[in-house]
Amino acid sequence: MDEPGVQPDRVWIFDTTLRDGEQSPGASLTSAEKIDIARQLARLGVDIIEAGFPAASPDDLEGVRRIAREVGTPDGPVICGLARATKSDIDKAWEAIRDAAKPRIHTFLATSDIHMQHKLRMTREQVIERVGEMVGYARSLCADVEFSPEDACRSDPDFLVEVLSVAVEAGATTLNIPDTVGYITPAEYAALMRKLIAETRAGDRVIWSVHCHDDLGMATANTLAGLQAGARQAEVTINGIGERAGNTSLEEVVMALHTRPQVYGLTTRIDTTQLTRTSRMVSNYTGILVQPNKAIVGANAFSHEAGIHQDGMLKHHATYEIMTPETVGLSQSSLVLGKHSGRHAFRVRLAELGYELTDAELNQAFERFKELADKKKTVTDADIEALISDEFYGPEEIFTLQGIQVACGQPGMPTATIKLRGPDGREHIRAAIGTGPVDATYQAIDAIVAAPATLVEYRVSAITEGIDALGEVTVRIRRDENGKRTFGGHGADTDIIVASAKAYLAALNKMLAYTGYQDRAPEGDAATVEVKAPVA
Ligand code: KIV
Ligand code: ZN
Repeated sequence: MDEPGVQPDRVWIFDTTLRDGEQSPGASLTSAEKIDIARQLARLGVDIIEAGFPAASPDDLEGVRRIAREVGTPDGPVICGLARATKSDIDKAWEAIRDAAKPRIHTFLATSDIHMQHKLRMTREQVIERVGEMVGYARSLCADVEFSPEDACRSDPDFLVEVLSVAVEAGATTLNIPDTVGYITPAEYAALMRKLIAETRAGDRVIWSVHCHDDLGMATANTLAGLQAGARQAEVTINGIGERAGNTSLEEVVMALHTRPQVYGLTTRIDTTQLTRTSRMVSNYTGILVQPNKAIVGANAFSHEAGIHQDGMLKHHATYEIMTPETVGLSQSSLVLGKHSGRHAFRVRLAELGYELTDAELNQAFERFKELADKKKTVTDADIEALISDEFYGPEEIFTLQGIQVACGQPGMPTATIKLRGPDGREHIRAAIGTGPVDATYQAIDAIVAAPATLVEYRVSAITEGIDALGEVTVRIRRDENGKRTFGGHGADTDIIVASAKAYLAALNKMLAYTGYQDRAPEGDAATVEVKAPVA
């Protein structure tokens, strides 16, 4: 990778899915999922990965450190850790990222009057002094330092110029201008950016960066306006996930620059064919669904429904299509290997898709592939991705699914019998009657796991087309009635009831790992079968 520097037509893509994105309600990720996403971001070609906020907890620090070591290779992305403007935060960020080939410390302090008075209880003079000290301290540890004046877009612009000038003098190499509360409009943001670039002392020696939130639905427009005004780094997340209404979505900015070169004249080094895959991975792991009409990566983004549109598309695709599905990696390339395919061909395809598996993992994945190929005529790349993610990147397995039998139909009483292996190493079987097969399955699982959770979201979709498609289920559960935290789970199988059970169990396992599961045997004997009636 070429090193960051001031290149007029090049935009540095700074991905903060694992930091600002993970702050989305319910987006808790396991460390295996974080590593997997970081690897995929590197494959996508992002320049900088903000891997987390190491001072938040020892787990967060460890997660960032793993990414720094495993993904922060010399030809990989810069690995960045976020820190408040305090020595202890900066020390923790440095500890987490120092093993990356290209580490960056990102420190921030609020500069709007409302934040300084009510949150920080600091005067302007104190803020300026702290910025100088802490940026200087970060620079004494790391050659690459980014500074953000939080809530910049509601700050006094002249005060901002002063704060940013001090940050540059103290050694900041990137200055980021966050619209923390998603308040600014594109014309205002461009004007602010131009003023800051022009008036900040030695402002021509740093990279200027945009960071927008989507509270008024203007994050992408604001980001593009900031780039047109001279910024050369865009802070973005996959699928636009993030606090409240989210951050600017990576795929929207990248595809706007890619599709309208005459307007922007700016390039990125993103491999756009990896966009769909990255989007699916982030949605599956976080449990945050992508709305069907979402630009670039929504399920309907390339569907043409109206007859007049379909007619036009048949005559020439450019009548209604400004970019092809292939450009964003939506082509359904099929593995032309069916059930007679060999392990070698499977390994080769996995490598082409970017998966590096050990021999034992390959054997495990190959078993699953054979099972799938027995049920489906052709296995697509999307099927393989779902299979690998299902097999290797789920949360820590506290309870594992050992068996499931469901009886349903009309008229009838949908009944599910579930066998789980518990943390005590024993098998537990329960049966339950529900309003439908999924409800019965979830009630039987609940009866074994005995951890109160409410199902807040359930979605089923087909990964590929055709009657034999792999079904994919994404769920979100809330810990208890009043709990704010939600946990996502994902499962894939040709049987959607099995996929539903896997998804629910994945979410429960994540919740139990987070809340700390007491290593106790679930109630009841391993061999006992209790039939639970549906709640009226
Ligand atoms: O939105 C924001 O202000 C942030 C900063 C920490 C950069 O995320
Ligand atoms: Zn933010």
